[in-house]
Amino acid sequence: MSRVALVTGGTRGIGEAISLRLKEEGYKVAASYVSRDEDAQKFMKKTGVHVYKFDVAIFDQCSEKIKEIEKDLGPVEILINNAGVTRDGMLHKMDVRQWGDVIRTNLDSCFNMSKCVIDSMREKGFGRIINISSVNGQAGQAGQTNYSATKAGMIGFTKSLALETANKGITVNCVAPGYIDTEMVQAVPKEILDKIVKSKIPLGRLGKPEEIAEAVLYLIKDESGFITGTTLNVNGGQYNVP
Ligand code: CAA
Repeated sequence: MSRVALVTGGTRGIGEAISLRLKEEGYKVAASYVSRDEDAQKFMKKTGVHVYKFDVAIFDQCSEKIKEIEKDLGPVEILINNAGVTRDGMLHKMDVRQWGDVIRTNLDSCFNMSKCVIDSMREKGFGRIINISSVNGQAGQAGQTNYSATKAGMIGFTKSLALETANKGITVNCVAPGYIDTEMVQAVPKEILDKIVKSKIPLGRLGKPEEIAEAVLYLIKDESGFITGTTLNVNGGQYNVP
């Protein structure tokens, strides 16, 4: 039996690695994306992962597209809330839009997406929800009050939803990546990034997207059904550095 998994932001970066790893493992995978149509179509042709265009920050779009996914592939049994953006800036220079864009895409999306799949998971008596948080939601990061607030928020969301769904065979967990070699991290000015890697990451390197995908795969397995409400850190030891 191949389960249906939906990965938001699943055509690029960490999301791409998750989509590919799950597909390789035999899951039926749908990946959402919001822009770059041409790249998404190429990705679908190359990988066989189904792609769907919608904005995870907008509830009605999520609801409509999840219905389409369920018609194409079957009920979503595994949801990976991965889509996220940064709009870095010190709070004294941050505008309302930088704040709101990040809150809506990173955190409202967890509500929107989970809300749209939770009824069918409850009926089925099985579900896996993984929220991709961040070390910066745990440790904080100058320039990221918006992003850190969403990533810490996802951890609270996860713990509460895990309690609500435990008696229905649904587990809800976070994976908290550290600095992973993706476009998002490469957008940090090189001298700042080099300093972070040198001073904050004991393993002395950026992580690979595939290393996050492996952690996600572990948590979604049927055999991992006793793990819920927790956060799996994949950060090269970063959080342990004072
Ligand atoms: N801690 C404390 N203070 C800092 C600081 C830090 N790390 N970095 C800069 N400052 C201070 C500066 O000393 C300066 O102080 P004064 O005004 O008193 O002189 C002030 O903050 C402003 O500094 P800048 O002029 O350099 O600020 P800027 O506006 O040009 O840039 C920034 C600020 C955009 C936040 C830049 O520092 C930056 O990009 N930092 C990296 C942020 C980061 O790590 N983002 C992670 C992105 S990847 C990701 O998010 C994925 C994930 O999950 C891990």
